[in-house]
Amino acid sequence: MVACIPTVSFQGVEVKPIEVEVQISGGIVAFTIVGLPDKAVAESRERVRGALHALGLSLPAKRLTVNLAPADTPKEGSHYDLPIAIGLLCAMEILPGAEMANYVTLGELSLGADIRSVNGVLPAAMHAAEHGKGLICPESCGSEAVWGGDLEILAPKDLLQLINHIKGTQVLTRPHAEQSGGPSSIYTDLANVKGQETARRALEITAAGGHNLLMNGPPGSGKSMMASCLPGILPPLSPRESLEVSMIHSLAGTLPEGGLLRERPYRDPHYSASLPALVGGGAKPKPGEISLAHRGVLFLDELPEFDRRTLESLRQPLETGQALIARANQHVTYPADFQLIAAMNPCRCGHLGDPDLECTRAPRCAGEYQSKISGPLLDRIDLYVDVPPVPVTELSALPHGEPSASVRERVIAARLLQKKRFESLGESLETNAEASGVLLEKIAPLAPAAQDILNKATETLKLSARAYHRMIRVARTIADLDGGPEIIAAHHMAEALSYRRPRLI
Ligand SMILES: Nc1ncnc2c1ncn2[C@@H]1O[C@H](COP(=O)(O)OP(=O)(O)OP(=O)(O)O)[C@@H](O)[C@H]1O
Ligand SMILES: [Mg+2]
Repeated sequence: MVACIPTVSFQGVEVKPIEVEVQISGGIVAFTIVGLPDKAVAESRERVRGALHALGLSLPAKRLTVNLAPADTPKEGSHYDLPIAIGLLCAMEILPGAEMANYVTLGELSLGADIRSVNGVLPAAMHAAEHGKGLICPESCGSEAVWGGDLEILAPKDLLQLINHIKGTQVLTRPHAEQSGGPSSIYTDLANVKGQETARRALEITAAGGHNLLMNGPPGSGKSMMASCLPGILPPLSPRESLEVSMIHSLAGTLPEGGLLRERPYRDPHYSASLPALVGGGAKPKPGEISLAHRGVLFLDELPEFDRRTLESLRQPLETGQALIARANQHVTYPADFQLIAAMNPCRCGHLGDPDLECTRAPRCAGEYQSKISGPLLDRIDLYVDVPPVPVTELSALPHGEPSASVRERVIAARLLQKKRFESLGESLETNAEASGVLLEKIAPLAPAAQDILNKATETLKLSARAYHRMIRVARTIADLDGGPEIIAAHHMAEALSYRRPRLI
């Protein structure tokens, strides 16, 4: 008899159906797994054998063959343990094969027959719901699976609970969806930032339109502090975005237990991050920081300290909103539509332009330091702000700034205007930063004076076509923060251009 248990494999965020076929036949006593298993899958054998032994079952002294079909898709990870064990139990006629074939199954087994949590339960649940099947997953992932749609979910603690449920001697209740609370409290409140009006305004525009921002200033001027305020002024994820982002985090194993992500992700990798850590990939493709920052913020502090090749690898995802990882045997795509926020010192000593503090090599050292960031990468930055330090003597005298909550209200209002405008044009976009050049002509008509200013700036700042479009997008966002007039006025464009630099120094 051949038992057939459905499970899944993951290629990027794509879910591929896999059938675990188990056959018990006569011949030499053996237990083999075929169908391109990786090391973790091959080791399944020992965990499954151990788990069945813990239940007081021993494997029949026959030839046991497990085939993971289709045979040419590489299988990675430990979530095949549970379907293999269930397949064996069906082949041994302990569980009903026909009934078990109605569930997509995934989970890792311990030697004591506990079912351990695995990555990717949310996309697997969505896949099962789409195909009219139920889902069997670890108990700890049950509340994640609930978000997958309207499907039957069995989330047992261990193999025995599952067997008892199927046999009808115990009833497993459907797991509950955990409701996460309001905005996370990890971010710094903008009220703590004193002065820095230009940078605060740039931060607000960035948040409202989903733009990229670079802050440049001496040490201790508050750049990292202001960047950490950003999560507090960003709007929450829409239900559709929430599912999309949670799916990626589910695959990476970074989804908080029991729920969907409601807040926009904020990722701030250290500058020693490697290329696969940032962009994704590695021997076993995994989402990188840019994909974990999907629909949220990627903050690169001390930008020039990042490895040059790592920084250059951001160029393509910044344009396409996707990370494409090519391997000899497979191509994997992860969504990576993020806002880039970066901070840097103007030179190695950090005090360029300050006659009291700058080093003797200025301005030559600044040129060397800043040349670590390539022109094409800088071209993708929409807003550039200088962050001069607030004099220490004034810090205590200055009043507290506007709190994050009220800035967030303006940002949410501006984003709503953008969403409605896109909807009226039949587009499913969220922010101005996503609008293509063609769409810009429809959503951001320029007043003649605004066009004039932009034309002159293009000439003097030698703006590229990309920068030209980016300036119109920023101007559109500034106008949206100003009530959302249909036509972009000259002062909106002038402000947008004030955040543009041809070169850093
Ligand atoms: N405008 C400000 N208002 C209130 N506090 C400030 C301000 N600027 C700096 N600080 C204080 O200085 C500390 C250091 O700031 P921060 O770490 O953001 O500097 P930075 O610009 O990132 O420096 P570096 O270039 O060395 O990374 C902050 O945590 C805060 O306590
Ligand atoms: Mg800093």
